[in-house]
Amino acid sequence: MNREAGPTVNDGPFDCVVRGGRVVMEKDIRVCDVAIQDGLIVALGQDLGEARQVLDAGGHLVLPGGIDAHCHLAQRSAFGIMTADDFVSGSVSAACGGTTTIIPFAPQQKGESLRDAVAAYAEKAHGKSVLDYGFNLIISDPTPTVLTEELPRLVGEGHTAVKVFMTYDSVRIDDGQLLDVLERARDLGALTMVHAENHDLIQWLTRRLIARGDTAPRFHARAHAPESEREAVHRVIALAEAAEAPVYVVHLSDELAIDEVRRARARGVPVLGETCPQYLVLTEEDLDRPGFEGAKFVFSPPARPPGTPEKVWEALAEGVIQTVHSDHAGYRFDDSRGKKLHGDEAPFHRIPNGVPGLELRLPLLFSEGVTKGRLDLRRFVQLTAENPARIFGLHPRKGTIRLGADADLAIWDPEETRRVSIDMLHDRMDYTPYEGMEVTGWPVTTLSRGRLVWHDGQPRGKARHGELLRRTSPQIADFRPKR
Ligand code: URP
Ligand code: ZN
Ligand code: ZN
Repeated sequence: MNREAGPTVNDGPFDCVVRGGRVVMEKDIRVCDVAIQDGLIVALGQDLGEARQVLDAGGHLVLPGGIDAHCHLAQRSAFGIMTADDFVSGSVSAACGGTTTIIPFAPQQKGESLRDAVAAYAEKAHGKSVLDYGFNLIISDPTPTVLTEELPRLVGEGHTAVKVFMTYDSVRIDDGQLLDVLERARDLGALTMVHAENHDLIQWLTRRLIARGDTAPRFHARAHAPESEREAVHRVIALAEAAEAPVYVVHLSDELAIDEVRRARARGVPVLGETCPQYLVLTEEDLDRPGFEGAKFVFSPPARPPGTPEKVWEALAEGVIQTVHSDHAGYRFDDSRGKKLHGDEAPFHRIPNGVPGLELRLPLLFSEGVTKGRLDLRRFVQLTAENPARIFGLHPRKGTIRLGADADLAIWDPEETRRVSIDMLHDRMDYTPYEGMEVTGWPVTTLSRGRLVWHDGQPRGKARHGELLRRTSPQIADFRPKR
């Protein structure tokens, strides 16, 4: 037996060996076996010998399982309705798409204790997830008690990222509060994630559009104009600079906003950026589908004009944007507690915002990115696993294939082509925005700490398997812009 990658913790037979795949590691890509014992990667090398379970990965890639640090599960939205997916369906669906860690949001309502909010959310998650999970904490009411008493304890318990909103009436905070959060998070070694859109501009544009009778779903993109995102991204970067705090801008959709991040990074500001498959694949033309179909594509910031996705791809390849997460926020289409909350002729501003994406995040990014030559394999793994692990305090336990790491793996067939249909997915949605798309590159097996959670076209996870992760501080230094 040749274990060229170093010592092992036992001499086998191992619990599992993933045999002969092309393994994407941090420093190189190599054809080798991956041996798993007690949920950990314990050997990497040639001909690793016997195991209780052998998974043949010949001709396939072996990738670190994806980490999705921006998804909404079992969460009441800014529109007051619950997401269609909870920790059971969300984690199963994620696993079937090659993701092995999910970090949805524990939301604080205004007037509520953050601690109580997190405790209530933990209750919803407990014993439900087939994957390991963490919580990012939505702060909508940053009172002195929240910032000086509750947050330090929560960060100490491993919840090392918070999220704030610059828009949505029910959750938004003002600039002074945003400064308080940025400063406090910095002091505690936590990361501030920001939904950046200019609330007043959206409201102003919405009033004008509605007054003119421009109420169809396609006017959602007009109301959430690129200027709204660009201004808010500019402002939050300025505030973060003033507070000397790192900041992470979620769901960047547009070249103007991305330019703000690019310029700030060129100045050496520690601003990190995320985008999502919907900004790489969809355009505002999807909002203009017949009847109420456009409602399926209402999310914020909205999809942008044709041509913009190519700019977002460039930012991914260039390193201006560090992560691709799903922003999975599923609301069923034909449902009075979903997109039709206010009926099937509702004006655009009454349509719940959000699209599903946990299961298709990796296949879409692989197909449109790697298969089509916009991203190389290493970049794909950085964007979907390694960078999220570093930024969200999970590296090197997760997001990487190395000795001692959790055996969270996606065995990937880079050549399998399938046409997307809602029937093949495992969430609780009644539509997918990607219906009919041809996608090349799918996971054939997903392992969470060595356990099968997707195999032979079947979900295999057990709800009690997933554990709440205690995360460390974000490794921001790894992403400091080089000047
Ligand atoms: O439209 C979106 N993105 N819905 C989910 C909530 C949020 O804004 O992230
Ligand atoms: Zn958002
Ligand atoms: Zn979101």
